[in-house]
Amino acid sequence: MAKLHPNHNGNRTISAQPRLHQRAREIQVYSSVSHMLPLELEEPVCLEMTEQLNQLLADTMTLRDLYKKSHWQVAGPTFYELHLLYDKHYDEQVELVDSIAERIQLLGGVSLAMAPDVAETTQIEPPPRGREEVPVQLSRLVDAHQIIIRQTRKLARRSSDLSDAGTNDLLVSEVLRTNELQVWFLSEHLVNVPLVEAEKPSLAKEVA
Ligand SMILES: [Fe+2]
Repeated sequence: MAKLHPNHNGNRTISAQPRLHQRAREIQVYSSVSHMLPLELEEPVCLEMTEQLNQLLADTMTLRDLYKKSHWQVAGPTFYELHLLYDKHYDEQVELVDSIAERIQLLGGVSLAMAPDVAETTQIEPPPRGREEVPVQLSRLVDAHQIIIRQTRKLARRSSDLSDAGTNDLLVSEVLRTNELQVWFLSEHLVNVPLVEAEKPSLAKEVA
């Protein structure tokens, strides 16, 4: 094994040995904003927006994961179609998660990231670990979308009132539009129409 030849440069030791298992104080605590960028937005605006965006982030991450759970666990005659649809929506939610998290960082905040923190914060009802039938999968996803859509509309109005046009644009153009489209694609699977044979007209109509 090659010997280490440490050199000294001021107080730091220079060597090829990786410094492993390091820990230190946080450089920014959660729920705070830094003032790195000249955004022309007041600190209270950045604080309020980052706090609300973190709630939306936690819910969007939960919906993203609910899509992957549904993609893996779906069963029945519509398996192939839903398996693909769930994964398409998952990919789109991944994009939204990144956009929301980076908006929080851009505003000087600290974005939520880890599963335990997300689970503690989200407003979406946790599903069981086991598999559920398709109508339940779809209903859970639609319910999660509804929570996110409601919250996005509210936050879009607030960001507009506070003149945070960038956040407003993200919320309306990306988050709201994507969620509205996805909830439509899901909801159409919950319409009870015949698959093979059309329903016969009622007797009363036939007589008339
Ligand atoms: Fe897959």
